[in-house]
Amino acid sequence: MLDDNYSRPLKDLRISVTDRCNFRCTYCMPLDEYEWIHKKEILTFEEIARIARIGIGFGVEKIRLTGGEPLVRQDLPVLIDKLAALNGLEDLCLTTNGALLSERIHALKAAGLKRINISIDTLDPNKFKRMTKRGDLSKVIDGIFAAKQAGLTPIKLNAVIERGVNDDDIIPLVEYAREHGFAMRFIEYMDVGNANNWTSAKLVPKKEIIEKINARYPLREGGRDQGSAPSVDYEFIDGRGDIGVIASVTEPFCGSCTRMRLTADGKFVTCLFSQVGHDVKALLRGGASDDEIRAFLASIWQKRTDRYSVERLEAMNSANYDPKSHRKIEMISLGG
Ligand SMILES: C[S@@+](CC[C@H](N)C(=O)[O-])C[C@H]1O[C@@H](n2cnc3c(N)ncnc32)[C@H](O)[C@@H]1O
Ligand code: SF4
Repeated sequence: MLDDNYSRPLKDLRISVTDRCNFRCTYCMPLDEYEWIHKKEILTFEEIARIARIGIGFGVEKIRLTGGEPLVRQDLPVLIDKLAALNGLEDLCLTTNGALLSERIHALKAAGLKRINISIDTLDPNKFKRMTKRGDLSKVIDGIFAAKQAGLTPIKLNAVIERGVNDDDIIPLVEYAREHGFAMRFIEYMDVGNANNWTSAKLVPKKEIIEKINARYPLREGGRDQGSAPSVDYEFIDGRGDIGVIASVTEPFCGSCTRMRLTADGKFVTCLFSQVGHDVKALLRGGASDDEIRAFLASIWQKRTDRYSVERLEAMNSANYDPKSHRKIEMISLGG
């Protein structure tokens, strides 16, 4: 076990396999062009699997593959196969926008993927196009049902809720998930990256999301999975499934955050809102031993003091929060 400066153990690793994406969601990656990480700077699958193995040695139980859009990385099943074979890993998951899922699902499943999170912010095809700029809702729905047919479980659907944009989609999404046996996860709109022009006026707080759902489909709070998951989960009292809300803005969970991130170009990042990463690729490519990499990882985690969301809430409550004053690493490169 490896504890940070606030006694938080390292338990999860989020790996961004690419910074590229086939969508341009307005809340995440609103610009048409970005300065992409050069191909040779992207970690190979062998390098990623080595880091994962070392992390598991320190207590990492869960790995999530993300991006950017992980399915645009070629041969991703090869990485899944390597990670699924690691001793001691309890959970391997993928977060995707679903656009390429129907064509990749069999290879992903055969490689060892058991569960998946798919992002879908609205069921209205025109709004979906406006929100993702390049997305086609019907392809995502095909992907969701391909995952269901392939037997992946649970299938969680993620929706970022933005006021005035898709807050009227909360109930339709809940009904869709209940009807088809998916678990909806609503995400408070966050000030990730530097380009989405986030303001607190665009945020729909967890309390409001839950009140809206509870008024139509009564809920019972179940808490956080294992006490440290980002999502606070609720069951429908009628027994037809569950929903969750990730309330990083209004109910920060920094105190129980056990996540380390690995960027596509090989940097350890200790918080989604970090301003800097710690380059492990130089060690990987410079011939470092496992012990040297272990020592590097341990020194970063042990010094970790991040509690950005708690500080943001304090600043928001005192009305002096300016998201632009804190320059962050873009979410696409550090893995949302
Ligand atoms: C960065 S994406 C990467 C994986 C994949 N491309 C996808 O969209 O699922 C991971 C998650 O972050 C969420 N996300 C992106 N920008 C966000 C923001 N500004 N606030 C809250 N969640 C956000 C997405 O909706 C998605 O569920
Ligand atoms: S949320 Fe996912 S799909 Fe949308 S732009 Fe970001 S990385 Fe791409």
